[in-house]
Amino acid sequence: MTGPVGEDVTALVARLVADDSLAGATLSKPAKGDPGRARKVTVDPLEGRYRWRHHHATRTEDEIVAPDETARRLEHLLGGAYRQGLLRSPEADYQVLTSGAGSTVLRRPPSRIEIRREHDRAKQRVLAEGTPIPFLVELGVMTRDGRVRASRQDKFRQVNRFCELVEDVLPSLPPGPLRVLDFGSGRSTLTFALHHLLTAIHGREVELVGLDLKAEVVADCERLARRLDAAGLRFAVGDIATWSGERADLVVSLHACDTATDAALDRAVRLDASVILAVPCCHHELLGLIDDEPLRPLLRHGILKERFAAEATDAMRAQLLSLCGYDVHVVEFVPLEHTPKNVLLRATRARRPPRAVVQLAAEYRSLADRLGAEPALRRMLGDRLDAALGEMVDRKLP
Ligand SMILES: C[S@@+](CC[C@H](N)C(=O)[O-])C[C@H]1O[C@@H](n2cnc3c(N)ncnc32)[C@H](O)[C@@H]1O
Repeated sequence: MTGPVGEDVTALVARLVADDSLAGATLSKPAKGDPGRARKVTVDPLEGRYRWRHHHATRTEDEIVAPDETARRLEHLLGGAYRQGLLRSPEADYQVLTSGAGSTVLRRPPSRIEIRREHDRAKQRVLAEGTPIPFLVELGVMTRDGRVRASRQDKFRQVNRFCELVEDVLPSLPPGPLRVLDFGSGRSTLTFALHHLLTAIHGREVELVGLDLKAEVVADCERLARRLDAAGLRFAVGDIATWSGERADLVVSLHACDTATDAALDRAVRLDASVILAVPCCHHELLGLIDDEPLRPLLRHGILKERFAAEATDAMRAQLLSLCGYDVHVVEFVPLEHTPKNVLLRATRARRPPRAVVQLAAEYRSLADRLGAEPALRRMLGDRLDAALGEMVDRKLP
């Protein structure tokens, strides 16, 4: 059936979200007057939440949003910010047309009769349960018949999520053999996952090095790599800060402690990595340095100060990577309920006009001045940034 429906937009959105029958939404034709607004927004269901993707002219931004907030936003944005909306459900597609005179809702036959949540797709697409995957069996995540052990479900989800995030950046990697570094690889479940994804799933030739300070752990990982016959994968003992390889295409650093993340980002920039994926871990550095009178009510409380210092550190790291010629997105790694260490910095090489660089530099400077502190990365990348920004960064903090 095609034609207008009796339900208004608010009631329709509320019903689809409450019934968990929103199979997807697209908002387009942004109203004039807000140049910062994405030209298109797509909303896709995940398990228990929605992924909002904001499509700007030169980049996309993802957000994971709860159902209530999704309903509230859809209702708000379809009230005038976007003149066209498409809400899909297995019962019908609803087209929402908004003008000065209000909104009209048209009902059409459904284009998606099945709701496919991203988690389901990921399970099929990346590492599926049911088929034994050698490295997961060896690491005790899977049984020999391919079942995920109950106690390792979180690890399995984390590995899958990591694979999805790597798949997202594959288009930004060069063709041919890939040079990959995993800084602070530790027990290396994610290093083996990265190797499996790139070689067994995507058929890429790799030279992947997992680097860690701990000689015993490195020896164990090296033995496992040989047992798995993992071509191109090796492990080395060493300090990230003094790693001196020639070049890297992809650098990952997952949960490297405190300023080891800064060292990993610094090395990655100097190795001219096309893509950097970093999940920072404990953030101690800025804790003792940040001071700001108006923020006293926040900084007085240890737990709030700690979180704030962590967010500020990552915001500044992201900005510094942008200044070094990367397009940086901060995305959720695994849901917050599984670990508080859930922020991933995803940086891909990008070209930027000089004026944009100056703007980024000014923003960085004003945040650092305001907080009276800078992350180790600023010091480490000093020469690069000084060269890129000239006088903008010569104005050192007191
Ligand atoms: C929390 S573990 C994370 C392991 C793995 N990347 C993961 O996410 O499961 C952090 C690892 O980083 C290593 N690490 C810390 N600082 C390092 C440094 N400066 N150079 C090399 N490895 C370092 C530690 O030895 C440890 O094994």
